[in-house]
Amino acid sequence: MDTIGILGAGSMGSGIAQVAASVGHKVVICDNLTIALSKSGKNIQGTLKSLVDKGKMTDSNAYEMFSRIKFSDHMSDFKDCSMVIEAIVEDIEPKQIAFKSMEAIVSENTILASNTSSLSISAMGAQLKHPQRIIGVHFFNPAPLMRLVEIIPGLQTEPTVLERARKLIDGWGKTTVIAKDTPGFIVNRVARPYYGEALRILDEGIADEATIDWAMRDLSGFRMGPFELMDFIGNDINYAVTEVVFTNFFYDPRYRPSMTQKRLVDANYLGRKTGRGFYDYRNGAVMPEPVRDEALGREIALRIIVMLINEAAEALYLRIASRDDIELAMTNGVNYPKGLLAWADEIGIRNVVEKLDALYVEYLEDRYRCSPLLRKMARNGQKFF
Ligand SMILES: NC(=O)c1ccc[n+]([C@@H]2O[C@H](COP(=O)([O-])OP(=O)(O)OC[C@H]3O[C@@H](n4cnc5c(N)ncnc54)[C@H](O)[C@@H]3O)[C@@H](O)[C@H]2O)c1
Repeated sequence: MDTIGILGAGSMGSGIAQVAASVGHKVVICDNLTIALSKSGKNIQGTLKSLVDKGKMTDSNAYEMFSRIKFSDHMSDFKDCSMVIEAIVEDIEPKQIAFKSMEAIVSENTILASNTSSLSISAMGAQLKHPQRIIGVHFFNPAPLMRLVEIIPGLQTEPTVLERARKLIDGWGKTTVIAKDTPGFIVNRVARPYYGEALRILDEGIADEATIDWAMRDLSGFRMGPFELMDFIGNDINYAVTEVVFTNFFYDPRYRPSMTQKRLVDANYLGRKTGRGFYDYRNGAVMPEPVRDEALGREIALRIIVMLINEAAEALYLRIASRDDIELAMTNGVNYPKGLLAWADEIGIRNVVEKLDALYVEYLEDRYRCSPLLRKMARNGQKFF
């Protein structure tokens, strides 16, 4: 079986190493910090021990799996790898430097993959001698548990490289979808209004955090409301993704970050991890109760859901991904209760367009512009399915 290289032994690198080793690959995981390597080893062992304790794995399987992973502080150990997945800091320059160094070590056929959440794959390939082997493979956190992997060919990627990478990762029990090399790919783009529109509703004083969370969770079937989710992800991380998507889309107002969230980040109210975010998680703090007004809740939910549908429709319209991949990405990647395009059919595309147009007329902001695809489908009485 192929040997897989992983560069970066942080949370993502360690998770991906575990996934690859669990299906029988030899794995080389490399980091420039020895402390990161020992932490990664301990974390993987901890996860394996809990699988053994739960009876999901035998002791000897866990031992064999762990012994397939080599922890290394030098990239020269990647020399026999058929694919190397980079999972270092989210910054284009160190990634480009790392890929150049790796190219001098690995064979010409080795796939060079990046786990970036937001950076351009084409830019990562730009300085390579053989840029046709660069590709994005975007795992979600935690990699062993989340099924979805977005596969992102750069402009230079050869179709055979895409096929090989997809086949390999499908073989790891993952659900793969193909996305165009554009900011946020599928999930991190289409999900933006879940946070952005909720923040806007909060800013306008239409409802508080607990009520908006209640409307999305209890009335609409999302696993978590937007504010509890932002606190869970970390406001610093969530804000940074929005900012990257916004700036990389040339400041399209649709993705404009929220000042309210920025102030939380400024104050180090990052969410659960710092004890305070939109909510107070300190000892003894009491969670606020929502205003359980069903009419208000349904109005809030509809506003957020039509904004999500608009984003999904626009991604389809601009050929970021196929209809089915957009649906799979949102249900598998972020556990949405339904695919957004199927949801549009259910609400009625004409109703979705009417709601978006009403918001547009109310605010006269480009943020609420309706996707031409939805408008055309409403005119022709079409459905997505
Ligand atoms: N954390 C997430 O939720 C998540 C989800 C999907 C994708 N990603 C992406 O995955 C990548 C890694 O994220 P993470 O959360 O695992 O980061 P992390 O900070 O936990 O780990 C990064 C590791 O890379 C190492 N490193 C940095 N520069 C290096 C270099 N030049 N050579 C070797 N090792 C180097 C660091 O020592 C560290 O151990 C980023 O591109 C991130 O955007 C993260």
